[in-house]
Amino acid sequence: MHQLLLKGAWLEGETVDVAMADGKITAIGHEVPGPAEVEKDVSGLMLSAPLIESHVHLDTTLTAGEPKWNESGTLFEGIETWALRKKTLSREDVIRRATRLLHWQAAQGVLHVRSHVDTTDPELTAVKALLEVRQNLKGLVDVQLVAFPQEGILSYPKGAELMEEALKLGVDVVGGIPHYELTRDMGAESVATSFRLAEKYGRPIDIHCDETDDPQSRFLEIVAALATRSGMGEMVTASHTTAMGSYDDAYAFKLMGFLRRARINFVANPLVNITLQGRMDTYPKRRGLTRIKELWQNGLNVSLGYDDVMDPWYSLGTGNMLQPAHMAVHAAQMTGRQEVTACYDMVTENAARTLGISDRYGLEVGKPADLVLIEAKDKWNAIRRLAPIRLVVKGGKVVSETTASKTTLLGAPLDLGAER
Ligand code: FE2
Repeated sequence: MHQLLLKGAWLEGETVDVAMADGKITAIGHEVPGPAEVEKDVSGLMLSAPLIESHVHLDTTLTAGEPKWNESGTLFEGIETWALRKKTLSREDVIRRATRLLHWQAAQGVLHVRSHVDTTDPELTAVKALLEVRQNLKGLVDVQLVAFPQEGILSYPKGAELMEEALKLGVDVVGGIPHYELTRDMGAESVATSFRLAEKYGRPIDIHCDETDDPQSRFLEIVAALATRSGMGEMVTASHTTAMGSYDDAYAFKLMGFLRRARINFVANPLVNITLQGRMDTYPKRRGLTRIKELWQNGLNVSLGYDDVMDPWYSLGTGNMLQPAHMAVHAAQMTGRQEVTACYDMVTENAARTLGISDRYGLEVGKPADLVLIEAKDKWNAIRRLAPIRLVVKGGKVVSETTASKTTLLGAPLDLGAER
């Protein structure tokens, strides 16, 4: 007897059934026979592995306007505003806001989330609160936490010690922010510190790297060099890397070869970076994004994050991962037929590689029964229409359902184009 049997989903142009038992996928194919404890007709919906958030800040989320709005819209006013809000942080405050966003994301099919958490706080209030949230939401969303030194590892008092303390408390990943250290040398040393901590505690690395329009910000080459030298390769992620969009082509071409050798992951945050970067430009105004398309064309693993949802850096947002994918299509000019589909992969399977969870992720028999049903025929259509996520299944149980909206025009039902 199946635990759950979903009938008639679209999958890569075909109609399939999917059966689950004991929290695992047990069959995917045409006409899978019952019986099942729960059977659902999901015809007209696309079967997909869950969406993945590979870069968000759960400690800062849902604080936009507190204690003031970021009127200049810059990264730096965001950091100043957060330093003010951080003074009023409490355990309950962080737990309430982070849980709310994770619930929003789960209902939108996001079942794996990597969140950075600010460690430049002598009390580590947010770290301790998010460790509780990670535990509380087990069974709904898998959360990974990154020790993120917002105000610097070397530029903030006891920055390295606080990072290490966070790792001892159970934070999963080592972060960094070399471009925000006080000098270039301190930035380089901070990257080395991140690698030292990662090797000491056996953790992956995810560094906020070169999140600036400054073409001289070149910490990515240091991250790549240390990833190659340490052999950590795929355990290393460079987030943002927006300065790549401002590098001259001769340097970028040389760097691309080093990156291919290093085999590190990239996370781009196109929704937020297209608004935060280019702020010092008049015209032409830079897009302030990393070279998403070229990294992808060079076979490097690129995933997308939301980065900020209603906080000092981005006052909008819902946590729906189709939105950064949609923005990447536009801002990175990935409008080719396969390129649009690739942007869907950047919030699903590529993100699973970034998070190091590919062995337990995907639509395969024997894998965990975590999946979503989207009101679209294929990945391209899902991005074009920012299609609603109608059903979310975790461990073989339906955890979220969204009913279809109905539209009529001049008294007749209107086809909303889910099939094209
Ligand atoms: Fe970030």
